[in-house]
Amino acid sequence: MAVPLGLLLALLGCTTALDPALDEAWEGWKSLHAKEYPGEAEPIRREIWEKNLRRIQQHNWEQSQGQHSIRLAMNHHGDLTDEEFNQLLNGFTPARQERPALLFQPSKTLKTPLEVDWRAKGYVTPVKNQGHCGSCWAFSATGALEGLVFNRTGKLVVLSEQNLIDCSRQLGNAGCSGGYMTRAFQYVRDNGGLNSECVYPYTGTDTSGCRYNPRDRAANCSGVRTVPQGDEAALEQAVATVGPVSVAVDASGFQFHFYKSGIFSSVFCSQRVNHGMLAVGYGTSQDRGHNVSYWILKNSWSELWGEQGYIRLLKGADNQCGVADQASFPVL
Ligand SMILES: *[C@@H]1O[C@H](CO)[C@@H](O)[C@H](O)[C@H]1NC(C)=O
Ligand SMILES: *[C@@H]1O[C@H](CO)[C@@H](O)[C@H](O)[C@H]1NC(C)=O
Ligand SMILES: *[C@@H]1O[C@H](CO)[C@@H](O)[C@H](O)[C@H]1NC(C)=O
Repeated sequence: MAVPLGLLLALLGCTTALDPALDEAWEGWKSLHAKEYPGEAEPIRREIWEKNLRRIQQHNWEQSQGQHSIRLAMNHHGDLTDEEFNQLLNGFTPARQERPALLFQPSKTLKTPLEVDWRAKGYVTPVKNQGHCGSCWAFSATGALEGLVFNRTGKLVVLSEQNLIDCSRQLGNAGCSGGYMTRAFQYVRDNGGLNSECVYPYTGTDTSGCRYNPRDRAANCSGVRTVPQGDEAALEQAVATVGPVSVAVDASGFQFHFYKSGIFSSVFCSQRVNHGMLAVGYGTSQDRGHNVSYWILKNSWSELWGEQGYIRLLKGADNQCGVADQASFPVL
């Protein structure tokens, strides 16, 4: 007797116990983010998405009971497992034996402002989207260079990550497989410039050769400064006096992947940094009679993630997520 196909598939574990009550939500999510899957992939992706959705709902229920400070939300990465997410999106390689760069020297007497937000001063371009490419390091670097160019010229120019991905391999960067902000700055210095996004658009792939054109130079850099490792007070001075600063954090946790709002802190966040971001300021907010300080970090996971593409990360609390471990900025 022939076994009905549906039963066979179920026995082999090819179909999974999907929740029919989520059919409509799944279709809506797919259409919102223009997701299409070849036949067999769909139930697998749906199962991962349902698991993520349940974890998000559980977290937000706990948050409503006062157990967490942040809220989570489903986003366009909801069909990825934690492992896939980290492989595809967290492309910062922590430096073990970095070539010595000049250290930023914090002043002993400087009083920094209580709040800094370079977005309000015109230093920061709109939030970008790295796609499925571990190029966060390039986005972090262009962000710092965009601030530097604005400071010098008064013009906000969107700079090219693809230029860095395609052309900085000799310095040890690995395109979509990861890289370093400091080496991106060194490339711009050695190369004598960087092109704009407009003339050198983002493809999010490793396949093209270097197409830098010196006639279209949109940014320059003559050196790199690193912030003393783990020193949040020094990072605060750098952010307050220089402009946006490149940082790296541990972004490998589920709560980070689906962060929606609030001041982020997590016991699961380690100092093993793996994701490049841009510190564009800091501030303080009132929470149940306490002052809570935070860093304002720009991400490159589109405006759909977090607070319109940004995260507020707990500041002055044992170097949360390693935020001050690999901070650097370009100088001209
Ligand atoms: C550039 O930065 C310097 C200090 O580093 C500051 O004095 C100057 O006002 C800035 N220029 C602009 C256009 O923001
Ligand atoms: C960059 O540096 C080169 C060479 O030093 C110079 O000719 C050019 O004007 C600079 N461009 C910018 C945008 O600062
Ligand atoms: C919070 O910060 C404000 C402004 O700096 C200060 O006036 C106030 O005393 C602080 N409150 C607490 C509870 O520390």
